Amino acid sequence: MTTDFTYYTPTKVIFGKGAERQVGSLIKELHCKKVLVHYGSSSAKKSGLLDRITESLAEAGLEYVTLGGVVPNPRLSLVHEGISLCKREGVDFLLAVGGGSVIDSCKAIGFGLYHEGEVWDFYDEKRKIKGCYPIGSVLTLAAAGSEMSSSSVITNEDGNLKRGINSDSSRCRFSIMNPELTYTLPSYQTMCGAVDIMMHTMERYFLKGNTMDLTDELAEALLVTVKNNAYVLKDNPHDYDGRANMMWASSLSHNGLTGAGNSSPGDWAPHQLEHEMGGMFDVAHGAGLAAIWTSWALYVYKENPSRFARFGKNVFSLEQSGDSEKDALAAIKATTDFFSSIEMPTNFKELGIDPSPAQIEEMAEKCTFFGKRTLGNFMNLEKEDLIAIYKMAA
Ligand code: NZQ
Ligand code: ZN
Repeated sequence: MTTDFTYYTPTKVIFGKGAERQVGSLIKELHCKKVLVHYGSSSAKKSGLLDRITESLAEAGLEYVTLGGVVPNPRLSLVHEGISLCKREGVDFLLAVGGGSVIDSCKAIGFGLYHEGEVWDFYDEKRKIKGCYPIGSVLTLAAAGSEMSSSSVITNEDGNLKRGINSDSSRCRFSIMNPELTYTLPSYQTMCGAVDIMMHTMERYFLKGNTMDLTDELAEALLVTVKNNAYVLKDNPHDYDGRANMMWASSLSHNGLTGAGNSSPGDWAPHQLEHEMGGMFDVAHGAGLAAIWTSWALYVYKENPSRFARFGKNVFSLEQSGDSEKDALAAIKATTDFFSSIEMPTNFKELGIDPSPAQIEEMAEKCTFFGKRTLGNFMNLEKEDLIAIYKMAA
């Protein structure tokens, strides 16, 4: 049964080789004059991408300032620096050159420029977002889907709090996607990306209630494609089609397509569990998701084993025994084995963290926003459940 929905994807996508050379003219079309070029630590500089971007801006007669230094799990302090810089320089367009962390940092700067006052208040749910400065992105990593999503995830160093917020106003005006830009990724980051892409669809797939047939089938096709292309890229990181499939999947997995018509936005507990791991231990997001997913799945699958069984059949081509509980467990094992086969961790030890009981308690408490919420939709999870899942992963 199909549930009513609104599907809003205003991002113009420019996909293909050399697409980044269009960046200047794309911003000019939006009648903006001065650009913040925001980027990460070193990859965009080293590859020469940053030079190509600034050349294109200059050719289009645009002024620009640059701010690098965004780190994975992007920090609030750099967001503050970006806001001050943009105000001082009269910037009217924000260009992210990088992966999810750079795009999310840009979105936060955009909120800070649009409103007076402290930008963290939005992430802390103290104030509601009313708008955002215009943003564009040049994507260098297929993973988070921020290039087409409404989300931004920022870490506040004060308390190590990693928080996400959603606002349609922050969706990129355009996103430039040249799969060749991802050739330089280390295999670990490529595979973290594959996990995160799959997870954005799996979070929408495992839910309580009704789903739409077309959406289920789109979701399963996307998951199979990402799984197959992860293997392609493991063998050959320069496979253009492998990179192209991964990049487009990144965007489609998190722009709402694979959840449209379903009766809820999905589960999202694995993501929330991971965000606290990222906040406390600064782990890569995709690796953290892989490390917590199996424990989550084993904890919740009994709520609806046939959903997991269907997942195993359609994503991992598992033969069905007809015993849904057995088939569900086989699906969870196939997923865990897949993560291992692409060298992703499937528990805390493999992730390289060893949280103490007090740290597990603290992460669970933070997950509940200090007692203000429970997690999950496939199964509703209280703080004690979250502690149990973290302990299973340890
Ligand atoms: O800083 P540089 O030198 O660029 O290195 C980066 C970084 O170390 C490197 N990298 C990026 N492109 C590269 C490259 N290295 C070589 N060649 C390239 N072409 O990759 C590392 C990771 O980058 P990052 O942007 O952190 O990765 P990702 O795209 O996975 O983003 C992760 C962040 O996004 C959040 C995560 O929580 C995490 O903070 N998420 C954002 C979402 C959203 N806004 O919709 C949804 C997600 O669920 C997720 O929570
Ligand atoms: Zn994610």
